[in-house]
Amino acid sequence: MSIDDSIHDVETIPIRVGIIGYPVGHSLSPKMHTAAFRALGLNWEYSLLPVAPEEMQDAIEMIRREVWRGLNVTVPHKQAVILLLDFITPQAEIIGAVNSIVNQNGRLVGYNTDWIGFLEALREAGFDPANRRAVVLGAGGAARAVVYALLEQGETVTIANRNQRKAEALALEFATQFDREIAVLSLDDSAGLQSAINNAELLVNCTSVGMSPYPNGDPLPPEIVLPPHLTVYDLVYNPRETQLLKRTRAAGATGIDGLGMLVHQGAEAFRLWTGLDAPIEVMRQAIE
Ligand code: ATR
Repeated sequence: MSIDDSIHDVETIPIRVGIIGYPVGHSLSPKMHTAAFRALGLNWEYSLLPVAPEEMQDAIEMIRREVWRGLNVTVPHKQAVILLLDFITPQAEIIGAVNSIVNQNGRLVGYNTDWIGFLEALREAGFDPANRRAVVLGAGGAARAVVYALLEQGETVTIANRNQRKAEALALEFATQFDREIAVLSLDDSAGLQSAINNAELLVNCTSVGMSPYPNGDPLPPEIVLPPHLTVYDLVYNPRETQLLKRTRAAGATGIDGLGMLVHQGAEAFRLWTGLDAPIEVMRQAIE
């Protein structure tokens, strides 16, 4: 029996998936996926795999040999794992990061589901992302998935980062890939940032500022005024109500927290592993 044939059978040996990272103890994915497997009556087991960078190669070979169905991948392996896989999707290649792996009978395929999760979460919150104007704060790994998603939707994107050179490198890379102009700002350039925000419908925080254990952080300079027409998406989900989202609501603008993206990137991984639609509400409730 192939792995695919066995997915819907109730077997004594569970089908295995898990999350590989270093550390992984803080991850909400086990709760989310375990709840989903239970809800659909699947005999699947989700494990934590704390694996140091120097042990990654052995760990990935173990996954291949021992017929795990797949993995989620988290910090610090999202980029480095690419070299250990047999194939990655074009989207994961452009974003430069894999957060989900599917084991297709010993062939390991890498996906990026973060960008899909982001778009699904936006739509779910009532924001149609097609052909809008967005300002993205940050130029790291999370920003890459978000900028990819927005460009894929035909949005006009401005990237603002503390380290402007990093933003310029990212903009150049994606501008070439999508044949689009991408504006770049330093987070210190308050006048430029205010003007870009006034002209945008969407602002996305892809920096880690505001995240626990520093929940008082705010990625935007205090003098920036948020116009009421703006939708602010904060990728930070811990805490859910960040300083930036408090400020957004105080300004009469619309705020969306980062939990939806987490749920929807997980739902997409679930779909890739099982071939089934994920029980979104069960997954959300498991981590809320
Ligand atoms: P992730 O995978 O979460 O995106 P990352 O790749 O380390 O993590 O990127 C972190 C992002 O948060 C970067 O854009 C970083 O800005 P720099 O490129 O200038 O370092 C941003 N960031 C982190 N701490 C920050 C701070 N105190 N102020 C402003 N930006 C910050």
